[in-house]
Amino acid sequence: MLSGVDLSYVRSVQNLSLKHLGLTKENPSVACLIVDFNKDVNGKVISFGLTSLNGRPHAEVNALKKISKKIDRRKLTAYISLEPCFKKKLNSCSTLLYKAGIRRIVIDSLDPNPEIYNKGNLFLKKKKIKILIANSASKFKELNKYFYKYKISSQPFITLKLAISQNGYIKDFNSLDITSKKTQQYLHYLRLRHDAIGVGYNTLIDDQPQLTCRLNGINKHLKKLIFIKKNTKSPIQNKNFQFIDYDKNNLKQSLYDKLSKSNIRSLLVEGGLSTFMTFFKAGCYDEIVLAKSKNNVVSSRAKYKINKNLFDGLLERSNNNYGNDKIIVYKKNNV
Ligand SMILES: NC(=O)c1ccc[n+]([C@@H]2O[C@H](COP(=O)([O-])OP(=O)(O)OC[C@H]3O[C@@H](n4cnc5c(N)ncnc54)[C@H](OP(=O)(O)O)[C@@H]3O)[C@@H](O)[C@H]2O)c1
Repeated sequence: MLSGVDLSYVRSVQNLSLKHLGLTKENPSVACLIVDFNKDVNGKVISFGLTSLNGRPHAEVNALKKISKKIDRRKLTAYISLEPCFKKKLNSCSTLLYKAGIRRIVIDSLDPNPEIYNKGNLFLKKKKIKILIANSASKFKELNKYFYKYKISSQPFITLKLAISQNGYIKDFNSLDITSKKTQQYLHYLRLRHDAIGVGYNTLIDDQPQLTCRLNGINKHLKKLIFIKKNTKSPIQNKNFQFIDYDKNNLKQSLYDKLSKSNIRSLLVEGGLSTFMTFFKAGCYDEIVLAKSKNNVVSSRAKYKINKNLFDGLLERSNNNYGNDKIIVYKKNNV
């Protein structure tokens, strides 16, 4: 049974795992805290580790290597946001925790990866290590939803993002941006969490976007995709972008293979409106992020206006004010 102290450490690992979110390649961003209960019932954190940038070493390895050899390990608890990995012939994290003498482990959730699921848990139990599963999990699963979706379904997590004005336009002929600088900062965080970002061909030509993640101190490599119509070639060549042609009428099949070949497990589609509508109508998304300005656009065209009932019936995951804008996240009904 988990105590209140345990639960507060579980919350800490959830928060810590945010630090490397989006920067751990194919691995989820995990955190591990090692807490010493030798002298204090509330425990004392003696070490922590995060999944390394680019995915390896894992959080547990990074945490274990910092504990002193002299410490009595019988009263140490390892708090980890995800079940430690276990592979028979390798020095996996479960084996390392056991060999390090840790006798109590609290994890937030089991690993959704079918190759790993429950294996670390069973191995550690066999070794008579007390292992508890918090299963509060919501935050870690929510943050690492891209990882979970891909591991469970082998399909990429797709987010559609659109910025619209109060009066429903996605384009303003007087300005490149519909929303404020503060909202764009949020949108760069959204880029950070995905493997790839894609826009339609007209957006490439009209806006000449960089499609980079511009956050101070963060170096994120994003794959940059340009979507073009089926069986067409791009009229321009540009080696910074990967041109992907897709079949509007068979979007999922024509796209997923290509994404999978490029090792893309999560994709952020940033418009324009035709591209957004193609993905939307095909149901080819997991979430929609709508950045809604409180200002009207006065100079645009009818083809850039969205139908005001478009999102009726979708589930709102969140709806927050963001400076002068509103960010509404919709999730697909069956996600
Ligand atoms: N508010 C926002 O969040 C946001 C985000 C991104 C972009 N935008 C704005 O959206 C505008 C563009 O939107 P959009 O709906 O027109 O287009 P889009 O979604 O950016 O691109 C899709 C369009 O590209 C054209 N295309 C595709 N393959 C092509 C090929 N091989 N050769 C030539 N053309 C090809 C097609 O246009 P045709 O169907 O006409 O052939 C297709 O409908 C931009 O001006 C940008 O400023 C807004």
